[in-house]
Amino acid sequence: MTISRRKVLTIIGGGTIAAAATGTGLFAATRTPTKALAPWAAAGLEEEPRRRALSYAILAPNPHNRQPWQVDLATPDTVRIYRDKTRNLPETDPHARQLTIGLGCFAELMRIAASQTGHKIEFDFFPDGEDGPVAEARFGDGANADPLFAHVLERRSCKEPFTAQEVPANMVAQLEPLANVHTDPGKVAEIRDLTWQAWKTEIFTPRTMKESVDLMRFGKCEINANPDGIDLGGAFLEALMLAGILSREAQSDPNSTGFKEGIRIYEEMLNATPAYAVITTDGNTRLDQIEVGRRWLRLNLTTTALGLSLHPVSQALQEFEEMAPHYEKAHAMLAEPGHTVQMLGRLGFGPKVGRSPRWPLETRIINE
Ligand SMILES: Cc1cc2nc3c(=O)[nH]c(=O)nc-3n(C[C@H](O)[C@H](O)[C@H](O)COP(=O)(O)O)c2cc1C
Repeated sequence: MTISRRKVLTIIGGGTIAAAATGTGLFAATRTPTKALAPWAAAGLEEEPRRRALSYAILAPNPHNRQPWQVDLATPDTVRIYRDKTRNLPETDPHARQLTIGLGCFAELMRIAASQTGHKIEFDFFPDGEDGPVAEARFGDGANADPLFAHVLERRSCKEPFTAQEVPANMVAQLEPLANVHTDPGKVAEIRDLTWQAWKTEIFTPRTMKESVDLMRFGKCEINANPDGIDLGGAFLEALMLAGILSREAQSDPNSTGFKEGIRIYEEMLNATPAYAVITTDGNTRLDQIEVGRRWLRLNLTTTALGLSLHPVSQALQEFEEMAPHYEKAHAMLAEPGHTVQMLGRLGFGPKVGRSPRWPLETRIINE
């Protein structure tokens, strides 16, 4: 999560810490977690076709930025994709539904990147059943370059308030083959309230909140050491850390200033949403979840192409006991009876935001 200057100024009321941080350009200049962002600059530099495609695939969106992918390159022209189960989210994603969606995003991004060099990928998902590899991907020839490739490096999950500008009907029409888009003000207000109530439920349930806090990386050193999870970095946030306002302890204590300000910032962000994109499925098999991920990735690249921002807000879709009332409400509101709401995202016009950290490709290769 990249927190903007605006948010930090809100937290500290524009006081001395901000002045100190802005006054020391040197401090600011040294706080970028360059190592954690290096995989973005390395994308496309590999020559071998599978490695080249994978150097982009690792930039895929995925829940809590867990990057739960591992690849086996031992068979020529083939990538065997596995889900790294040490990266599970047992509290907020007990059935690994969201993690599987993230692997669908990864597979689709690999396909799009491979198409750029004319390589066509034939996928066999879960060839040995649910407990085996997620996919066997065979690289061949004859692909047409996918135009969505042009937006891969600019794609983001935009965790910021959006402007009040409505999403124009011509853009909605371009997104609708990929998702249900809600723009009706009454419906949007209902969904907004659902996302806010569900978010509060997640953070006031100690074990689900702890899962997030454990994945927070505080400052450049922690982000570079573990380029995943929820990254809290940049000069302003680090100034807050130095001042003791932003810390692991404060984020675990609902009575702390940092925790309370976090809530206010999130409420403001969730409210600043003019539209939503929703993906539902009839069934809810592992393959359905993979296909949702592939669709979400294409949706996110299409919003990028249109100058729109997209931000998944998954709390109401999470499958733990305390969330059940919101889960039911989300389904009554957004899906046909018996169908599953797989993705719910804020949609609108947001600010340009930075890249999120990634583990380098080499660390995700388990066999070659
Ligand atoms: C299935 C899925 C669920 C997600 N749920 C949330 C969410 O509830 N809140 C959120 O801020 N981001 C959510 N994200 C976005 C990830 O946090 C984001 O993809 C990751 O941090 C990497 O950042 P990037 O997409 O900007 O590259 C979700 C992504 C996926 C694929």
